[in-house]
Amino acid sequence: MLSYAPVAPLSLHSIAKSGTVSLVRHCSTLTAASNSNRRFPLRSVLEARASTLPTQSPAPHARSAIHRSLPGFINGSGSRFAAVSSHEKLEDEFELHKELFDELGIKKENSGVCNGEWGGSGPVIYSMNPSTGKILASITTASKADVDSAIDAARKAQHLWRSVPTPVRGHIVREIGEALREKKLALAKLISLEVGKILAEAEGEVQEFIDMTDIALGLSRSMPGQVLPSERSKHLILEQWHPLGCVGVITAFNFPHAVYGWNSSLAFVCGNSVVWKPALSTSLVALATTKIVHSVLERNNYPTSLAALLCGAGEVGEAVSKDRRVDLVSFTGSTAIGRKVGVWAQERFGRVLLELGGNNACIVMDDANIELAVRGILFSAVGTSGQRCTTTRRLFVQQGVYDIFMEHLTHAYKQVRIGNPLDKGTIYGPLHNHSAVSRFQKTMEEIKRAGGAILHGGKVVDGPGLFVQPTIVRMDPTAEIVQRETFAPILYAAKFKDLSEAIQLNNAVPQGLSSSIFTSDVRALFEFIGPNGSDCGIVNVNVPTSGAEVGAAFGGEKETGGGREAGSDAWKQYCRRSTTTINFGDDLPLAQGIAFHHSPPTSAFDAASASGEVDKLGYAVGGGGEDVVKGGITKAASGGVGGSAGTV
Ligand code: UN1
Repeated sequence: MLSYAPVAPLSLHSIAKSGTVSLVRHCSTLTAASNSNRRFPLRSVLEARASTLPTQSPAPHARSAIHRSLPGFINGSGSRFAAVSSHEKLEDEFELHKELFDELGIKKENSGVCNGEWGGSGPVIYSMNPSTGKILASITTASKADVDSAIDAARKAQHLWRSVPTPVRGHIVREIGEALREKKLALAKLISLEVGKILAEAEGEVQEFIDMTDIALGLSRSMPGQVLPSERSKHLILEQWHPLGCVGVITAFNFPHAVYGWNSSLAFVCGNSVVWKPALSTSLVALATTKIVHSVLERNNYPTSLAALLCGAGEVGEAVSKDRRVDLVSFTGSTAIGRKVGVWAQERFGRVLLELGGNNACIVMDDANIELAVRGILFSAVGTSGQRCTTTRRLFVQQGVYDIFMEHLTHAYKQVRIGNPLDKGTIYGPLHNHSAVSRFQKTMEEIKRAGGAILHGGKVVDGPGLFVQPTIVRMDPTAEIVQRETFAPILYAAKFKDLSEAIQLNNAVPQGLSSSIFTSDVRALFEFIGPNGSDCGIVNVNVPTSGAEVGAAFGGEKETGGGREAGSDAWKQYCRRSTTTINFGDDLPLAQGIAFHHSPPTSAFDAASASGEVDKLGYAVGGGGEDVVKGGITKAASGGVGGSAGTV
């Protein structure tokens, strides 16, 4: 694999979790260790590589992969794919990972469709390792007919599942969590291989699924309904949450396991079946995850079609979104595709849950703990190589600390250890696919044209994998390019004067996912999290924009789509709500005091009564006064509130 100059590792753990390992201490250790540069002695790996190796296009075998990419759907123009449609001339590395694949039930050739039976009659695709550009394994994807049969089977299975008591469903989800715990490392390695994220983050991703199963288990014993007071005497109102039906889950490449975990844990415990359409390029993660879920369903004698799988390209996601039998479509991915998915589902009055792009900003105030802010922002901007929805893409630093902060931050960037995501010590892996690399390159060119100053990085790293330098650019925050989410590790930095300017900048983009302020001032803190503050779904304080826990609702406003996944009351989206009014009295008062009052004209009633023409409720049958209707109910123009005045 790639070999790089050794640098003292700045582990994600130390960045994200350690309260003891100080960045400043790291820096001084490094200074003492070398005299090649007085201030920051160890040139970054990236700079070292960039200075010795000219930027080149991807290796020929890797380039052939991009030409064969299938047309995209879920990820827009196909741009986020790392899967290819032909194996011809591509090297494969299946044997290298055979032991891992055996543990996860992955073969050299795999079915990527399960409707209770494994199969698939769509095109065969090949999943690629973005660190090497080599093929991992092949997957047979779904055809139209497969989509149809998987949804059909999932619906049928749901009819059984919805009658299973909620705590029993919770127990099944708990077992899924247990099975994931057993395979956590193996799954994480597979995520690293197929997505390109570092092992520590991949393990974190599996942990998110495990944590969600805990949430689902708790919910299964505590899922609340409501008893509401009625305005009517001897009446009671109940609100219940019932299973919704069949949930379509369409996931992106960057969190292929966790996002399915958020959705499926809640969907299952709420009594639904799930049809999963993963990003094409993370089909192997989807396969391995589905097999684990199925192992639990099988040993408990539930149909595996409860967790149907449809690997495939764009048209598969489109078919799922348009299918009337799919009650909720939960989509995670780009705003461009989310907009289409939303329309497809809404056109048929299907429900939709959208978690789309973010353009997340961190604000650093003059009074911030600089060291903490540097550590947080480094993790948030560089983690997952800038490919989280929550990645920090914009940085606003108050003028009093701008220079010192940027000095510390660029220094921290220089220590970022790039390499094989499976190697211990690596904190920064490749981008996921070739399109991401070319998007990075194009954006860098645009940045230069727009007058941006590159403070760190900016280049593609030569080599077999899809590596680019983590990049910081000083940029006018109002520039058009800054308004867009470029799914790459580019951080736009700018200076601001006061909090109101920072909040205005934070809110000035079309997206509204995550935001963060670093400050020690309680007034600034509350202003930022208050109604005049950040307009995002996630509003953090002294915590960067990424790395949310699953206990809270996850999602954002504006072009982020408005959906909320994971914790809090997100489970409600996987349910249909029924409101029940129960009358346990002998009277029928109407709500809002409506007097729908029967007062049969005495003469008519008497006449009918005398002739025996009254029904069993005592109403005259077949006529009478002009306001007598069938059943004897008349509409009164006025009425009292409830009670007898409003009764019939
Ligand atoms: C995503 O990028 O789609 O908050 C999900 C975070 C992770 C989830 C990211 N827990 O960064």
